[in-house]
Amino acid sequence: MTERTTPEDITAAVLASFDRCPDERLRTVMRSLTAHLHAFVTDVALTQEEWQAAIAVLTATGHITTGKRQEWILWSDTLGVSMLVDALSSRTPEGATESTVQGPFYVPGSPRRGYGDRIDEIPAGEALWVHGHVRSLDGRPLPGAELDVWQNGDNELYAVQDPEAPEDHLRGLFTARDDGSYGFVTVRPTPYPIPYDGPVGQMLSATGRHPWRPAHIHMMVRAPGHRPVTTHLFDVTSEHIDGDAVFAVKPSLVRELVPHQDGDPGQPPGITGKWWSLASDFVLVPES
Ligand code: BEZ
Ligand code: FE
Repeated sequence: MTERTTPEDITAAVLASFDRCPDERLRTVMRSLTAHLHAFVTDVALTQEEWQAAIAVLTATGHITTGKRQEWILWSDTLGVSMLVDALSSRTPEGATESTVQGPFYVPGSPRRGYGDRIDEIPAGEALWVHGHVRSLDGRPLPGAELDVWQNGDNELYAVQDPEAPEDHLRGLFTARDDGSYGFVTVRPTPYPIPYDGPVGQMLSATGRHPWRPAHIHMMVRAPGHRPVTTHLFDVTSEHIDGDAVFAVKPSLVRELVPHQDGDPGQPPGITGKWWSLASDFVLVPES
């Protein structure tokens, strides 16, 4: 009687197939991927029908992905892989600004704007004054640091998603002043759903999840001799602050937005009526 081939034999054969991989890192990654993938398939006892459904999901993910729509990254975001990779690669010391996901709506080439300028180019919500300092870990200000800022407006859209919006609406590149201070006028961001009309959206609804992100402003902050940080500031009062669809909220990035009446001290020029302010410093880590 011939020996029967077991599931373990199949896993062992695939693992062994990488033994002669000349690139050590690639060998490690492919062996680990195989071990975990086979353990997963074995653990859930994946059926033929489920395997076929998985292939259909991957195929649909490829089909919906374009230069502007990245469904693969959306899978990574909604399964927490984007945050995990970021956490593993950018451990920040106590006191430094923590990073979070970049997301798909960053467009390189933000317009340069001056201290105190507005980034809303068409009406997009209640005025918000965002200000603070950029500092190094030892507390010294970082004049010349750059803050690249982008966010959505009260129609839930980023300019890049909104055919009605000018290209530079709700984004801008700011330079910290001699004392490290920065400041700009924007609007209160609102919660918004990540794109949910594709396979990721189907996964979210099939698993009882939602596509919403809490209100936030994106920033990329950089200064010579320091590690750049890609991060958000979140509105503490926002819906979904405890249930971000992409797991990007970190307690150190949550801020209070302070309400102000027309005429209150510090009202930015050109703003009338009720307005809000948000104070936040950014602390960068020196390159070692
Ligand atoms: C964003 O915040 O822009 C975002 C992040 C991850 C997925 C979708 C959107
Ligand atoms: Fe966002």
